[in-house]
Amino acid sequence: MNQIAPKKLFIKTYGCQMNVYDSDRMADALAPHGYAPTQDMAEADLVLLNTCHIREKASEKVFSELGRLKELQNEKRATGGDLMIGVAGCVAQAEGEEIARRAPMVDMVFGPQAYHRLPDMLAKAEANRHMHPALKRAVVDTDFPEEDKFAHLPAAKKDVTIGRGLTAFLTVQEGCDKFCSFCVVPYTRGAEVSRPVAQVVEEARRLADAGVKEITLLGQNVNAYHGEDASGRAVGLGELAYLLAEIPGLERLRYTTSHPRDMDDALIAAHRDLDFLMPYLHLPVQSGSDRILKAMNRKHTAAEYMRLIERIKTARPDMALSGDFIVGFPGETDADFEDTLKIIRDVGYASAYSFKYSTRPGTPGANLTEQIDEAVKVERLARLQDLVNKQTSDFHASCVGRTLPVLIERVGRMPGQVGGRSPYLQAVHLEGSTDLIGGIHEVEIIGTSTNSLVGRLRQAVAA
Ligand code: 5AD
Ligand code: SF4
Repeated sequence: MNQIAPKKLFIKTYGCQMNVYDSDRMADALAPHGYAPTQDMAEADLVLLNTCHIREKASEKVFSELGRLKELQNEKRATGGDLMIGVAGCVAQAEGEEIARRAPMVDMVFGPQAYHRLPDMLAKAEANRHMHPALKRAVVDTDFPEEDKFAHLPAAKKDVTIGRGLTAFLTVQEGCDKFCSFCVVPYTRGAEVSRPVAQVVEEARRLADAGVKEITLLGQNVNAYHGEDASGRAVGLGELAYLLAEIPGLERLRYTTSHPRDMDDALIAAHRDLDFLMPYLHLPVQSGSDRILKAMNRKHTAAEYMRLIERIKTARPDMALSGDFIVGFPGETDADFEDTLKIIRDVGYASAYSFKYSTRPGTPGANLTEQIDEAVKVERLARLQDLVNKQTSDFHASCVGRTLPVLIERVGRMPGQVGGRSPYLQAVHLEGSTDLIGGIHEVEIIGTSTNSLVGRLRQAVAA
């Protein structure tokens, strides 16, 4: 595949941070085959939709985007050009052939476990383009391979220019064995798999060498991580954190998303011992009602979750918590919903994501009959979000007067300002020169604005 002028690749990413990471890896895998990234879909030769299947709306969005892409493809063909279209990600994994049938202009459909085979699929799809439209078929790859896709994909690298590339995602674990009854992930991403320790450390080291200061480890069930070390022993996320803390230049570590059942002693101890591990934890509970938690197959009660939070806060008293909540799970009564509001009050979240339950085909939840009215879901969601928003602004307000280490990442919105993140993942804006970018600086928090903090520089602690 020797191109004279590089072809243009546009990737549209939906859903979680793992998809963001995967999209970057796909772009890296296609670069040696003559595809350069573009931000402008109209000039693309190949558009990949990296899709999300977690909720109903997410997959509907994909089909409407495909409608728009069909028009773009027609326009290009009318002027002698062409556009190849690939659907990747979890909708592709779940619907496979169905996408090829419903959207015949699509050239490739492939799931998250097939990304390392993308160059081969592309070659096949390019050959197919010369076939008669009636005979043309999309290349579909939704197998779960035996081989390790990460061993075949280019490792994450960063282009460190001012304000970019200081933070990076690193996928360490994929898939999930928990089978919450509402969730498609165990079906779309498959069984839980952890990358070997050496591979993770090597990728982190390379990121740090390229100037990355903060890494967020990713996994659908990241704290279930159990990568093998050189002797074949399984290493948990807590132990991995100590190893990553040794990497020169790497200053901060985060991880997401965690399951309460996998918050083990070693990981809690790492939070106690390592300032490197940021005091912000996304630990979804989904509901505060034991009855609903059981129906959701969450494998923990509300009281067990609260005890866990206590243990975490004993280890790291300033830990800020974040969560996910589902309202309107089948059978959820007013009393169940009140229990959810109660657990939110008891924990005091720094932030939280909340969703109306949506039936996902193929999940056990889809067979439950007691569906909740949309109007009830809407009302519950609004009440829950009011409470969470109030907690978020209370949390921001509680930071005023404190001095926090802020990783300065970019120029600010206003001239003369720079912006960064607090340890608790809050956006912080302050007056300061662009020389501060890339360093962690002590910043006194002097106020709040919508969804962010306003600070004043104290002194540099790291460059
Ligand atoms: N309906 C609504 N929300 C869902 N989530 C997962 N599946 C569903 C569903 N079927 C939410 C959960 C999960 C987050 C990523 O998305 O809260 O933690
Ligand atoms: Fe889905 Fe539950 Fe696994 Fe999270 S833990 S990915 S919600 S099945």
